[in-house]
Amino acid sequence: MGRYAEIYRRSLEDPEGFWAEQAGKIDWEKRWDRVLDDSNPPFYRWFRGGVLNTCWNAVDRHVERGRGDQPALIYDSAMTGEIRRITYRELQRQVALFAGVLKKYGVEKGDRVIIYMPMVPEAIVAMLACARIGAIHSVVFGGFASSELATRIDDAKPKLVVSASCGLEPGKVVAYKPLLDGAIAMARHRPERCIVLQRPQLRAELDPARDVEWHDAHEGAQPADCVPVQATDPLYILYTSGTTGQPKGIVRDNGGHAVALYWTMKNIYNVNPGEVYWAASDIGWVVGHSYIVYGPLLHGNTTVVYEGKPVGTPDAGAFWRVISQHDVRVLFTAPTAFRAIKREDPNGEYMKKYDLSGFRALFLAGERCDPDTLLWAQEKLGVPVIDHWWQTETGWAICANPLGIETLPVKPGSPSVPMPGYDVRVFDEEGRELPPKALGAIVVRLPLPPGTLPTLWNADERFVQSYLSRYPGWYLTGDAGYRDEDGYLFIMTRIDDVINVAGHRLSTGAMEEVIAAHPDVAECAVIGVADELKGELPLAFVVLKAGVTRDPEEIRRELVQRVRETIGPVAAFRLVAIVKRLPKTRSGKILRGTMKKIADSTPWKMPATIDDPAILDEITEALRELGYAKTPSRVDA
Ligand code: COA
Ligand code: AMP
Repeated sequence: MGRYAEIYRRSLEDPEGFWAEQAGKIDWEKRWDRVLDDSNPPFYRWFRGGVLNTCWNAVDRHVERGRGDQPALIYDSAMTGEIRRITYRELQRQVALFAGVLKKYGVEKGDRVIIYMPMVPEAIVAMLACARIGAIHSVVFGGFASSELATRIDDAKPKLVVSASCGLEPGKVVAYKPLLDGAIAMARHRPERCIVLQRPQLRAELDPARDVEWHDAHEGAQPADCVPVQATDPLYILYTSGTTGQPKGIVRDNGGHAVALYWTMKNIYNVNPGEVYWAASDIGWVVGHSYIVYGPLLHGNTTVVYEGKPVGTPDAGAFWRVISQHDVRVLFTAPTAFRAIKREDPNGEYMKKYDLSGFRALFLAGERCDPDTLLWAQEKLGVPVIDHWWQTETGWAICANPLGIETLPVKPGSPSVPMPGYDVRVFDEEGRELPPKALGAIVVRLPLPPGTLPTLWNADERFVQSYLSRYPGWYLTGDAGYRDEDGYLFIMTRIDDVINVAGHRLSTGAMEEVIAAHPDVAECAVIGVADELKGELPLAFVVLKAGVTRDPEEIRRELVQRVRETIGPVAAFRLVAIVKRLPKTRSGKILRGTMKKIADSTPWKMPATIDDPAILDEITEALRELGYAKTPSRVDA
């Protein structure tokens, strides 16, 4: 048996022994009473009774043990050209001080703080400062619009919001403050205070009754110490798309999270403390939480905080510049970033301009990785390229190729094998396990390992109903796929309405809600269609109300604008097909799956339950006009 197989088997046979051993890598103020509290299924808690502080483990202890002068963060803005190295000692100083600022404004243990910021070091300081005093942060991605932010404000009920005047996107400055003001105006809950970092590119107007500038806020604040918290206390809430417009507040605890993330740094990513690790993502996503902030810092690595894109800032060599300049050993990003690079620089000319000799491995996640992209990266970079699969809910990889344990053979198209604690199976509709190669719902046996979601914020029932009720005793991942004879998983599609646009998780249901609210729209259906660059793009089929005679192009523009303003530019919503009817089953269910197959030219059969098959001809025609459904793919005609 290989080392991986042995470790994996042990983690399933003796989970408590396995994780208790890993927990030894974390500093505890008080050891746990129980490794796994399984007294209240389907709710499970890891390290019940343990007391620790995540910020201490991510920052202070490294200063105490000789890493004070090592850079903790390297901030590299391809947008402004600024590079700032912040040592562990300096990070400790800034975080302790900002924790003091939060306290000065009345933030206490258990209070929520929303962080709506671009990729600047202050955002990470704010996150760690919350962890330091036991406040619960909820970071909201900058590409979301006001109403998405408002929903999160109403759900998390933050005492305080930390924001910035602007974000920098290629060719434009995105004003954050008006979006924040708009969100607060929309929300029922009123945060008491907003701390706003003024960036030199754009100054925000502050409301003296509520807003205070980041530096001004520091006046008179005293550095604050780490506050002991329960292992089971929440560290953060991160909202993610679910099956409705109402996002789910994924809760992350302190103890299990620290233990699991620490384990992944060496065993999956194969980096050693002191080395530079870079996740090219955004702190607004789970990848940013786990692998820009907490994972590398818990492990004593140097983490790169990159403000920029893979292409256009200034060119397709941006990633190679950062890798060589900062001595990055391991890079983690989304396949879409590599598709963008490959499109601009198919021969990898830019790679040749930089010294990449210290670079060891590339990890990809966030969306399905097409084998072409993986093979291209592997060939051009000459290092292992590892696809791994995970979700906001799990916080770390469900399946991966654990390079720090042993390098398993890479199978393009597969994120490899289950990680410790994840007993992954493929089920049919009735909950029977399927044989190799058969496609079904991917589930994981309860309890999930440490670091995964214990529940949804203030919504235990929704947690059970969304994830645990379909197959009692099992966690429903929402992904469908199969495993092969060697136990490698292949993640093929979602079983709900989640789509992945450039590695960003979005709900088509949420877009349908926005589109259906347009006064001219009778009904609509949004599907994700395959896209060469972004993986998927949303496409809306829209049926107009009887008697609407306005210019369809004008309506299309309004719909695009509505989605942009309500959900955000990150939805990349541009494709609208105005049709006379939607294809439905006789019981009135819209046949989204069939429309998607027609659009992507993948094999489809006429659904036996379809109400009127002729509608699909009209759908096909509309798709062709938008450049989809290029090849007829019906297989039962
Ligand atoms: N704040 C404000 N707006 C933002 C934003 C932010 N943090 N991030 C993105 N946006 C906006 C963009 O400006 C763009 O707006 P536009 O419609 O006005 O052009 C829109 O949201 C879509 O952005 P993006 O998804 O970045 O697409 P793009 O076409 O600008 O770039 C890629 C394409 C492939 C280069 C880009 O998607 C990318 O770098 N992906 C990397 C993957 C990644 O980080 N995934 C995260 C999970 S690991
Ligand atoms: P998020 O919660 O935003 O990280 O999105 C999680 C979802 O992205 C998963 O449920 C999958 O649908 C998809 N996903 C993430 N990583 C992969 C991967 N390596 N292969 C296929 N799909 C992935």
